[in-house]
Amino acid sequence: MNTLKIRHLNIDLSQGFPRHWLGGDAFRTQLFNAQSMSFPLGEQYFIDSVRSALPLIRNDDLRAQIKGFIGQEATHRQMHAQYNAELDKQGLSYWIGPFVAWRIRVARRLSVRSNLAVTMAYEHFTAIFSDAVLGEPQWLADAAEPLRTVWLWHSAEETEHKSVAFDTYHAIGGGYAGRIAWFLYVTLLFSGDTLLQTMHNLYRDGSLWQPRTWWQGMKYCFGRNGLFRFSLPHYLAYFRPGFHPWDRDNLAQTQQWLNQQHAVFREMGTPE
Ligand SMILES: [Fe+2]
Ligand SMILES: [Fe+2]
Repeated sequence: MNTLKIRHLNIDLSQGFPRHWLGGDAFRTQLFNAQSMSFPLGEQYFIDSVRSALPLIRNDDLRAQIKGFIGQEATHRQMHAQYNAELDKQGLSYWIGPFVAWRIRVARRLSVRSNLAVTMAYEHFTAIFSDAVLGEPQWLADAAEPLRTVWLWHSAEETEHKSVAFDTYHAIGGGYAGRIAWFLYVTLLFSGDTLLQTMHNLYRDGSLWQPRTWWQGMKYCFGRNGLFRFSLPHYLAYFRPGFHPWDRDNLAQTQQWLNQQHAVFREMGTPE
């Protein structure tokens, strides 16, 4: 198994960044911003889900992976909280936040296994998004620094830990039916949340009714190697009964980025 390290980025976002930091493209910028807004609440939920399974896990390798997962998601939350504070200053707000917080409160009544199924479904969406961020130049190559580095770092670590929730779910006896049922539920939530929050961000920054924004959205969503064409085969792969996140072996591309960029973060080692 791949050992998960905790890395703190040597980046301070308090100097701010351009409003359309992603290639001057309002649509793509606000879609990425919508994802960032979801992380502090969402990643805390993922942490709580895998942590609640820890007492049930006997395998030492998997226990170490779970602790690494928790450490990585915790540093992502901190960095995205700084990022989101700058978005607040730009006049944006996490409009769907209260609804998401309510859903998470309700989910606490579910079993450990169901919360893990929800978490691993979100982790699959995150893994697809991260794969494209690291591998498809038109997704992030024209991004302004330091946000480009923030997204590449987050995507690299999401790739590194993409099977942890999945392996934990199966280690406690989770099966195919639960995996798929919760994946369909998360598909609806993830798509709806992303759409609503992206539209709200565009509305707040005054770009929603500009034809150029809609053209950017069409190109990004339906263009070659865009959101849907890139994601669909990876999305559908999850339905295969024998699916495992590492069927798509993209660790080498991730490690290449981490090796090249080691000056931009401090390694904090592996958690105990
Ligand atoms: Fe994360
Ligand atoms: Fe993750």
